[in-house]
Amino acid sequence: MSATQDLEDLPGVGPATADKLQDTGYDSYQSIAVASPSELSNKADVGESSASDIINAAREAADIGGFETGTSVLERREEIGKLQWLIPEIDEMLGGGVETQSITEVYGEFGSGKSQITHQLAVNVQLQAENGGLHGRCIFIDTEDTFRPERIDEMVRGLDDDIIDSELDYRDIEGSAGDDEAMEALVDDVLAKIHVAKAFNSNHQILLAEKSLEIAKEHEDDDYPVRLLCVDSLTAHFRAEYVGRGELANRQQKLNKHLHSLDRVGNLYNAAVLVTNQVQSNPDAFFGDPTKPIGGNILGHKSTFRMYLKKSKGNKRIVKLVDAPNLADGESVMRVENEGVKPE
Ligand code: GTP
Ligand code: MG
Repeated sequence: MSATQDLEDLPGVGPATADKLQDTGYDSYQSIAVASPSELSNKADVGESSASDIINAAREAADIGGFETGTSVLERREEIGKLQWLIPEIDEMLGGGVETQSITEVYGEFGSGKSQITHQLAVNVQLQAENGGLHGRCIFIDTEDTFRPERIDEMVRGLDDDIIDSELDYRDIEGSAGDDEAMEALVDDVLAKIHVAKAFNSNHQILLAEKSLEIAKEHEDDDYPVRLLCVDSLTAHFRAEYVGRGELANRQQKLNKHLHSLDRVGNLYNAAVLVTNQVQSNPDAFFGDPTKPIGGNILGHKSTFRMYLKKSKGNKRIVKLVDAPNLADGESVMRVENEGVKPE
């Protein structure tokens, strides 16, 4: 029985609605069961009360009572991957690396290195586990037009020679580190596993997050499944578009919904979600305004790992872990080199 037929077993779901659900990422009872009626109503073009009926039926069928045993929580947690920065001090501080099934927020002022980190992790995520990666591909939502393939090129060439050799070997590329043709082929292969989309405004950004779910599904059984979703920057469009106190609630609602769909990609597909956020001067202020803590609360709640970047002398950056479950806060150092983000 196909998945579409499955969906048609739900009350009031005919072929057209089933297709719409499928196309918008609601392709299992499980994903429908956790949707909100208004969300589903918009997506599938059905009334809200029909949407409620569909969700309730999916909940019963999927047997989602909202509770699971500690055993199954443990099973899911055992699948959590750790994506290394390849900076030993920072990876140790993170308990092994950036976790999948979680949102990690990297925040700091302009030029503090947020975009450098998203680029570096888009490379690192592809590496074999023994090289610190998750053997996966990356989805990159670029809201500030800062994604640079040339920078990826430099970072790939900047990996340690033994990592390069092992990646060439795995990807069936002849040659070794430093060999021009081999390096070009490796760079091409890495770039081919980064799916970049430019977000022109916040609504577009929200749609792209939903689209990410489809890309993750498409590659679920690939040799390289999606293991990293970057949003650089999470907040810039929202901040620019929703100006003034009157817009605050609206902005938070939109942002919250957006974070929710990013979270879904992370949880359903075992991917790390990395978002960046700019601040002006006060490290505890979101959107650069310490008088508006509402934004802070919502983001603080969703971003389970929070890292603060601070400029230091030259290319040196202080990296602080300010909030993480089961981890002590800590402080490390990195350098932004031509070869990428590197240890002190
Ligand atoms: P905003 O997006 O403006 O908030 O800043 P950001 O935190 O994303 O900073 P970003 O990561 O873009 O840059 C951090 C620093 O990295 C810059 O100040 C540069 O010094 C350095 N940097 C950026 N690109 C390169 C590069 O191609 N090579 C080298 N060596 N350094 C770079
Ligand atoms: Mg940036």
